Amino acid sequence: MTVKEALDWARESLQDHCERPQFEAELLLVYHLGKERTHLILYPDEPVSDITGFERLIQRRASHEPYEYIVGKASFYDIDLKVAPGVLIPRPETELLIDEVSRIIEEEKITSIAEIGVGSGAISVVLARKFPNLKIVATDICDMPLKIAAENAQHWGVAKRIELRKSSLLDDLHEPVEMVVSNPPYIAADAPLEANVAEYEPKEALFGGEKGDELLKEIIDTVRARGIKWLACEMGYDQKAPIQAYVNEIGVKSISFYKDLAGLDRGFVIENF
Ligand SMILES: C[S@@+](CC[C@H](N)C(=O)[O-])C[C@H]1O[C@@H](n2cnc3c(N)ncnc32)[C@H](O)[C@@H]1O
Repeated sequence: MTVKEALDWARESLQDHCERPQFEAELLLVYHLGKERTHLILYPDEPVSDITGFERLIQRRASHEPYEYIVGKASFYDIDLKVAPGVLIPRPETELLIDEVSRIIEEEKITSIAEIGVGSGAISVVLARKFPNLKIVATDICDMPLKIAAENAQHWGVAKRIELRKSSLLDDLHEPVEMVVSNPPYIAADAPLEANVAEYEPKEALFGGEKGDELLKEIIDTVRARGIKWLACEMGYDQKAPIQAYVNEIGVKSISFYKDLAGLDRGFVIENF
């Protein structure tokens, strides 16, 4: 099969299974060939080696396996991160959380933070790269995220400043930190999800309780009880009202919500004291 024939076949095969079949067919073919996308345009008649291997990649994608798990990496902020099954694929909206946190780190000259739920290390690695004086303790309850986050921290040269700990919330954090950041699981137990998410991404990274905001509230309580001044979290688009009501009840110095690029409520920053 030539490059052109392989692309036509792959596009057809992905037609009913992903939003951009031509684009993903091209990406998977260049991944398979180990070439740049221009190669597909320059050499349409070149035979594709190991066509069975390429067919297997397309079948995986047609079964809704996320592209990022197939190629083993995801783009986030200004870097590529290794990802693997068992680790949430970092989402573009989480880049906004980085911007919120960065603003406070700069204004308050913060040098020590904790992250709850490190996943691939997306947040901690980007922050450590942006702020060379920043020290981070990052927790997760699952082994795979801790392993992949360690590899990403190592790859990007920030492993010395990110200490990874297997811990629920801040249970094993004993040193003082000035701020906590988290993109915790916040989806409701009965929320409908796309097949690529529901069937492939880890449940521990998705579901935050029956209503979805239970873990967020636990994080708010934990951070406050530990006397930590700042907390920045991502949340679901429909969780502003319950979070606002909750902080009104417990009393914090201030809370501000931020929106994502689609104009949906997406997160908050709490100043506790
Ligand atoms: C939504 S993912 C976020 C991953 C990464 N920070 C990101 O933004 O791409 C949530 C992560 O929190 C972890 N997690 C779930 N419950 C936790 C808990 N009680 N304490 C610490 N981590 C937890 C999950 O294993 C998962 O890696």
